[in-house]
Amino acid sequence: MNKNISYKQDQLFVEDVAVSEITNSLRTPFYVYSRTVIEENFGRFKRSLEGLDSMICYSVKANSNLSVLETIAKLGGGADVVSLGEYKRALIAGIDPRKIVFSGVGKQDFEIAEILKSSLLQFNIESVSELEMINKIASSLNKEAPIAFRVNPDIDAGTHENISTGKADNKFGIPISDAVEIYQYASKLEKIKIVGIDVHIGSQISDLNAFRQTFEHLEKLIYELKNINIELENIDIGGGLGIKYTDDDLEPDLQEYGGLVKRILGNLSCRIIFEPGRYIVGNSGILVTKVLHSKMSQNKSFLVTDAGMNDFSRTALYGATHRLIPLSKKKRGEEVYDVVGPVCETTDTFLKNYLVEKAEEGDFFAFLDVGAYGAVLSSEYNTRPLVPEVMIYKKRFEIVRTRPTYDEIFDKEAIPTWE
Ligand SMILES: Cc1ncc(COP(=O)(O)O)c(C=O)c1O
Repeated sequence: MNKNISYKQDQLFVEDVAVSEITNSLRTPFYVYSRTVIEENFGRFKRSLEGLDSMICYSVKANSNLSVLETIAKLGGGADVVSLGEYKRALIAGIDPRKIVFSGVGKQDFEIAEILKSSLLQFNIESVSELEMINKIASSLNKEAPIAFRVNPDIDAGTHENISTGKADNKFGIPISDAVEIYQYASKLEKIKIVGIDVHIGSQISDLNAFRQTFEHLEKLIYELKNINIELENIDIGGGLGIKYTDDDLEPDLQEYGGLVKRILGNLSCRIIFEPGRYIVGNSGILVTKVLHSKMSQNKSFLVTDAGMNDFSRTALYGATHRLIPLSKKKRGEEVYDVVGPVCETTDTFLKNYLVEKAEEGDFFAFLDVGAYGAVLSSEYNTRPLVPEVMIYKKRFEIVRTRPTYDEIFDKEAIPTWE
């Protein structure tokens, strides 16, 4: 566990705040983030790149709460966005638009136009059709569009198949074998300004070999482009660094990762762009939940929590394991449970045969390491309102997203009046 999320006299603290202090005034479930953990992760990432001309464009999709983005902005970070909504969030939080890359396999015309009218570092383009669309919109606005192509290097990142993006049969990017031809074509389009190249091979990657192979492919391609007088300013190598969720997970060595980048891509006279998400925010967050029921069923003990798969879906989506710990150690001994949520789906199961402190109804627990791909993936399935988010910094905490009321949920809907 991170030192900023730890027990003091049997009470779970995030920085200098006892989490039980928050449960006194805020109904569970809710997310809590430590700003200090985010700052430290960002700082460590940045230090591993010392000596490199680099830019960290935090991947907003991992956790897009404005308070998180504001933290990144204060640290001098940029943003990797995949929608106009994320772009707008980044601007509101104070991120410099010249440090924003717009990624995503299905950008829409209105998104491209609005972002072009403002400003950005580059569009990371994923198809010829998208290139032509951007050129057309740029022409109509009489603007030049800065672009990079996301290449698909056909590398198996050895991660869960649902978060692998760099294999030939994934939907992402242009095939690396077609890249030279496509760059040549793009160089002839009037309103397209080629500024870079981009790659992202997947998420929660622990094997640095996959990165090494990818960087070597990129290096080769960049020389091929130089040979035809296509010079790049930016090499965007995406995100993907894994973190340790359980003792079984391997955590890649950050210094080694930085060393690889420097060795293979550091002497090409380009700025290297990084898009880390999980690494920056993953271990900064916990999901606080209350035990609704402790029940026995056919020799199995179940803990039913008030958090469900709609609030936190990584387990249902990817089979991810997140540890559960009590907010307050009651020292009643331990028991093996299946920990399940209240949603009417069998996949609403967080942990199976999990040994944890014996629980009673009303006890509070926390799922760990939910700062990335947690709240952002939540939904109102079963008409359960989106859960609040809280940011802690040293001794203070603030609610940074409130729970909508039922009326606010229903107000967005209508019963047709045609009867
Ligand atoms: C294009 C792109 N960049 C960056 C990221 C961030 O990845 P991670 O959170 O694994 O660092 C993602 C996430 O899948 C992505 O799709």
